[in-house]
Amino acid sequence: MAEPTLFDLSQPGKRCITMPQPARAPEQYLPEGQLRAEPPALPEVSEPEIARHYARLAAWNFNVDRNFYPLGSCTMKYNPRASEAIAAEPGWARLHPATPEECMQGALRLMRDLETWLAAILGMDAVSLQPPAGAAGEFTSLRVFRAWHDSHGDTARRRVIVPDTAHGTNPASVARCGWDVTVLTSDEEGRVSPDALRDVLGDDVAAIMLTNPNTLGLFETHVLEIAEMAHEAGALMYCDGANLNALLGHARPGDMGFDAVHVNLHKTFSTPHGGGGPGSGPIAVVAKLEPFLPAPRVRRAGEGTRTTGGEGALEWDWDRPQSIGKVQAWFGNFLVAVRAWAYIRSMGAEGLRQATEDAVLAANYIRRALEGELDLPYPATCMHECVFSAKTLADERGVHAADIAKRLLDYGIHPPTMYFPLIVEEALMIEPTETESKATLDQFIAAMREILRDAAEQPDLLHEAPHTTPVRRVDEVNAARKPVLRWQKT
Ligand SMILES: Cc1ncc(COP(=O)(O)O)c(C=O)c1O
Repeated sequence: MAEPTLFDLSQPGKRCITMPQPARAPEQYLPEGQLRAEPPALPEVSEPEIARHYARLAAWNFNVDRNFYPLGSCTMKYNPRASEAIAAEPGWARLHPATPEECMQGALRLMRDLETWLAAILGMDAVSLQPPAGAAGEFTSLRVFRAWHDSHGDTARRRVIVPDTAHGTNPASVARCGWDVTVLTSDEEGRVSPDALRDVLGDDVAAIMLTNPNTLGLFETHVLEIAEMAHEAGALMYCDGANLNALLGHARPGDMGFDAVHVNLHKTFSTPHGGGGPGSGPIAVVAKLEPFLPAPRVRRAGEGTRTTGGEGALEWDWDRPQSIGKVQAWFGNFLVAVRAWAYIRSMGAEGLRQATEDAVLAANYIRRALEGELDLPYPATCMHECVFSAKTLADERGVHAADIAKRLLDYGIHPPTMYFPLIVEEALMIEPTETESKATLDQFIAAMREILRDAAEQPDLLHEAPHTTPVRRVDEVNAARKPVLRWQKT
């Protein structure tokens, strides 16, 4: 039976709570043709009905508070309630971004603190919190690189080298920036080799984008040599820092020779994402790139020409002639920054270091437990995630990575990332994060073993999975290409 929508529940005259009359836009300011003749046909339902409706929909959804969510490359760690409570404080949550600087000193201080801490964690000199996602951080950094090259009259550089393991946003950001992508094939160990790089490096290369650790979960061991080669060729080094959860307190992109890096606050610094909230992809750069960062930047009052307060006061610096400009409305997704600030404060330096150790330990625990059961094309000790392949199973039994993933849903576990990175056929990419207990990891391993046994003995059980979810297999291609986004009367 189809689940009722709010429109199906609607009965004339039913009401939820009574809200105060909203301020109305004076009708004379609205264009004639846009005025409604009739009120909109919104559903009329009681408060319990609407509460139950949304509770039911929420129960359909999988989320990180429900169970294990090992979605590789997404770092679905638990989002601490303390950070949520702090971000919900009205002083942060209701602060209007147009508030005069002298009345938002606390917010400026928080942003300044977060910039300082991220710079220390990353080994960089300056940070911008403006980009609203990892992909936006990549794009912003490439724009900064371009402005830097241009400022030297070096305008002929058009190519950016991107390894074949990179996340799809890397080449997309290059294209958005008007540059061309040169794909670099990884070596048999799954890493970038200096020899392969030598063949494609030239004086028309603007940058190399490297993800470290890469999306196979492997540390790029040649990174220092690669950075040296890039700089000798006049190119800049970009670090896709989406996998920073593997490095906290142990290694810093700045010490590896990178000139810029983005961080996904919504992954590493534990803020809700994946439909649960907006993201934030701050970038950090070396000193020579600082003048090109997006405007405005927080500075100490009096450092420039204007002053807005006494000693210690902070203000916005808009007077940045070399800046690439703004990349996001206002100052970035501020409440994500508040959560990240709260997370770093509550963890401390030692806690962050421990988080990385536990994340790497958890990934290797799973890698070792399942290495005899699935193919492991790149078997080295991994960092924060491990990538298996269901290729043998697909060839011999017709059971694919997607079938295993769907069957996991019947065990109440979110599937791993599938079919990525692209260089692994039938990939299953598992990132457990540090926030899961050993008992949860063991439960996952036991579920995987049972599923793989069933794959051999009764493959149709997997082909038809999931069996227990409210929605079975969705038509993913049609859902993406022809989404039905509006309720339609049947
Ligand atoms: C390695 C890597 N780089 C970049 C991104 C892009 O980040 P975002 O989704 O915040 O744009 C992701 C996202 O999953 C990623 O895993």
